[in-house]
Amino acid sequence: MNPNILLYFLLVFSYCWFLEARTDPTDLAALRSLKKQWKNTPPNWRKKDPCGRRWEGIFCNDSRVIKIILPGTNLAGPLPEDIVSLSELQILDLSNNQYLTGHLPANIGYLQNLDSLVLVGCNFSGPIPESLGSIQKLTHLFLNLNHFSGSIPHSIGNLTNLIWLDLSENQLNGALPVSNATAPGLDMLLKAEHFHLGNNRFSGEISPRLFSSRMALKHVILNENQLNGNIPDSLGLVRTLEVIRLDRNFFSGPMPQNLSMLTRMSELYLANNNLSGPIPDLSGMNLLTYVDLSNNSFNKAAAPQWFETLLDLTTLIMENTGLESHISTALLSLPHLESVILSSNQLNGTLEISASVSSSLRLLDLRNNSIDGFSSAAVNRSISVMLDENPFCLKAEAARICNNSRPLRSFIPLEDCAPLPCFSDPIFLSDCRRPYLGSLFFRSFSFSDLTNSLYYAFLTESLQPRLEKLQIPIDRVCLVSSMIDLNGYLVLNISFLPPDGYSFNRTGVSTINNYLNNHIYPSPYGPYYYSDLSYTNFPGPGKNTGLIVGISIAGSVLALLTIVAVVYGYRQRRIAQLAVKLNNPFASWNDGNVPRLKGARWFSFEDVRQCTGNLSHESEIGVGGYGKVYKGKLESGELVAIKRAQQGSLQGALEFKTEIELLSRVHHKNVVNLIGFCYDKGEQMLIYEYVANGSLRAALSGKSGVRLNWIRRLKIALGAARGLAYLHELADPPIVHRDIKSDNILLSDHLNAKVADFGLSKLLSDHRGQVTTQVKGTMGYLDPEYYMTNILTEKSDVYSFGVVMLELVTGRMPLENNKYIVREVRETMKESGYIYNLVDPAIRVDALIGMEEFVKLALSCLQDMSDERPSMGEVVKEIENMIEANNLNDDVESVATSASFEGGYRYPYSSNSNVSFGSSATASSPFIK
Ligand SMILES: *[C@@H]1O[C@H](CO)[C@@H](O)[C@H](O)[C@H]1NC(C)=O
Repeated sequence: MNPNILLYFLLVFSYCWFLEARTDPTDLAALRSLKKQWKNTPPNWRKKDPCGRRWEGIFCNDSRVIKIILPGTNLAGPLPEDIVSLSELQILDLSNNQYLTGHLPANIGYLQNLDSLVLVGCNFSGPIPESLGSIQKLTHLFLNLNHFSGSIPHSIGNLTNLIWLDLSENQLNGALPVSNATAPGLDMLLKAEHFHLGNNRFSGEISPRLFSSRMALKHVILNENQLNGNIPDSLGLVRTLEVIRLDRNFFSGPMPQNLSMLTRMSELYLANNNLSGPIPDLSGMNLLTYVDLSNNSFNKAAAPQWFETLLDLTTLIMENTGLESHISTALLSLPHLESVILSSNQLNGTLEISASVSSSLRLLDLRNNSIDGFSSAAVNRSISVMLDENPFCLKAEAARICNNSRPLRSFIPLEDCAPLPCFSDPIFLSDCRRPYLGSLFFRSFSFSDLTNSLYYAFLTESLQPRLEKLQIPIDRVCLVSSMIDLNGYLVLNISFLPPDGYSFNRTGVSTINNYLNNHIYPSPYGPYYYSDLSYTNFPGPGKNTGLIVGISIAGSVLALLTIVAVVYGYRQRRIAQLAVKLNNPFASWNDGNVPRLKGARWFSFEDVRQCTGNLSHESEIGVGGYGKVYKGKLESGELVAIKRAQQGSLQGALEFKTEIELLSRVHHKNVVNLIGFCYDKGEQMLIYEYVANGSLRAALSGKSGVRLNWIRRLKIALGAARGLAYLHELADPPIVHRDIKSDNILLSDHLNAKVADFGLSKLLSDHRGQVTTQVKGTMGYLDPEYYMTNILTEKSDVYSFGVVMLELVTGRMPLENNKYIVREVRETMKESGYIYNLVDPAIRVDALIGMEEFVKLALSCLQDMSDERPSMGEVVKEIENMIEANNLNDDVESVATSASFEGGYRYPYSSNSNVSFGSSATASSPFIK
């Protein structure tokens, strides 16, 4: 070849190479640091040149990185300080990566070009850095749904360009800062339209100086805090206001008179305070749609005038507010009225529903009043009238009207508007498309008739076309269900469907997330946030890797354990919060005054260090969302597993104490036993018995060297079922585990099953049988009804247990090779009733006694409707019957001992030790009753 030509090619080649490697070296170093610190970064981050080769989620202007948009992509790890050297960065959106943890870098203020910082729904903790206040260009600051603590730094008041300030759903405390001679404050945010500070621990009085007529606020959302004192008059000066939520605080005194000057108000929430004085006069607020003034101490009075003049009113809620006299027909005739809830007042006279009653009225709740008559001219109207606990109900003629008061179910199935595939199977579609599931939470909204499908039309008519314009391959956005949760937020569970044969890639999921959480999408109903269920189906470089990566995330990182103590009602939680303020619950727990809890011992941090070789790397045996697990050996020789909460997983002292008291009452041979706890030197640890043979998942995969024949599997199922039945039926308070899966069932040295993963829960505030705020769990095990209704009951565990039963039969993970075990077994059973081909090859040689019944039992646990599933107690009986009927009781020789353990496998609890434990030794023969 002509050497000139060769030279030419070399030149062109090297020129291209230089041209391509165009990322600024400082930016490159910063991105490399992110890549190093984070798990689950996009696969194409292997390439050398982020700007030239278009790293997924990284957007450049020439050689400089200007946007990082990676929400909803399962990133895990801390936010490293090096990120601040991306000096041209304008948008940083990492929302809904729930395993991003740790503190925000203190020097984050160096990001001087940042205009949007969007970290919704991560797991960040610690203080809000002071230096954030120096980012002059910041317009959108979303730190909601994390674990930030401490108070709002005064410096935030310097962010004079800020439009959105959302710090809701954190653990922030202290007073809301206002400016003074030396420091700025929130009152200086004159461009801000949104103060979203609800669900925190803010306390004290609101300074009158916080609000002024120069402000542009549209939304002031402070619900669920511990604010007290008067509602300042100055709030009435902010004429731009449209939504005020001050509910669930300790505000007292009368409502400021001038609030009725706020003529743009649409939604007003003042419920659950100690407000007194006359019932507020809302007569000037002509655009009001939604009013909730419940549970305050207003003067007793007849219905105020504005009941009849607010023509846009859809919803009037004034439970327990001292209303007297009778209900006017004019109120019930307001043209858009949907719900009237006036229960627990002293309304009297006859309730007349005239022919002119609003055609949109659906609910009229007047329980617990003094109404003694009822007449209705509104035939053929579907109005739910509730009159229980009124004198009228003592009358004979009342029988047809009274006692039909069903409790309000917030879950509304929407057959009309939900396209069927989403509704019937939100989690897995039959054609193996992988929907992306998430929820929109509206912090306020203008309606209450959740059955009216018109309210959801925006999903298909506006959100979907807008997403299509962003070039996301999307087939449909559909509504799975809607409800109102414990915070009074409207929750829309939605499913984004990719086109046939596709799953979303990271860019797709991130774009949807960013479009919603950065509030680029103009919502038709007030402020919202978007939270998702980790998407586990990103296409990977190789076949199915996306799925496998996703699942291992779900399995290990997501092993965020969830146990829910359920008796605590909402009120009790409020009382508890109060108690935190009043005294330190550990005050009596200091050394020398160790609490006497049956079973659970107190360990000092020194004790823990000693028994774990100074928390050495060698003693680590696992890691989960809450932190690391260490193996330790007590002085007595007893082995223990120590769960150490990391920063960000720490609970408040009272919650931790409550949790220990709860767990220390849980004793069952099929439940991993709590031995003690450490609350010392800022550490929170739970110390459990050590379970020798690892998890059921590890055993089924063959990794742990434990071989499980069919009969042994039956017995493991029985043991785990007994443990769960105990938690559901005998533990006090009853416990819904919420994350039952084969990773969370451990095997003792005699292969006795033990239900694990309790404690250090972040979800204690959820309530059984009520609408929870966020669905948690592991894909593949998640109960679809729980997903759709957000209502948690024991039956969700039953569903997950059904999945584990199918794992025992097939040996497969619930989601494997693009197949969902439940669907496959169900369809195979329906078609032929012959599932031998699905049986784990490792046990096909065994006599599969009772397997058919076992599979049928599993399928009954997997019924779509929770009412149709058996209880865990019934499951226990069925499996016992299988074992007894087939005389399998004496078969103990198949016990594999821990001696069969092979080396090299460490997670979660591996050991060659033959130590027997105080507690489990007595339980070595679990099948002898
Ligand atoms: C209803 O209550 C009001 C206020 O307590 C009272 O003045 C009125 O007489 C009552 N009406 C009837 C019919 O009981």
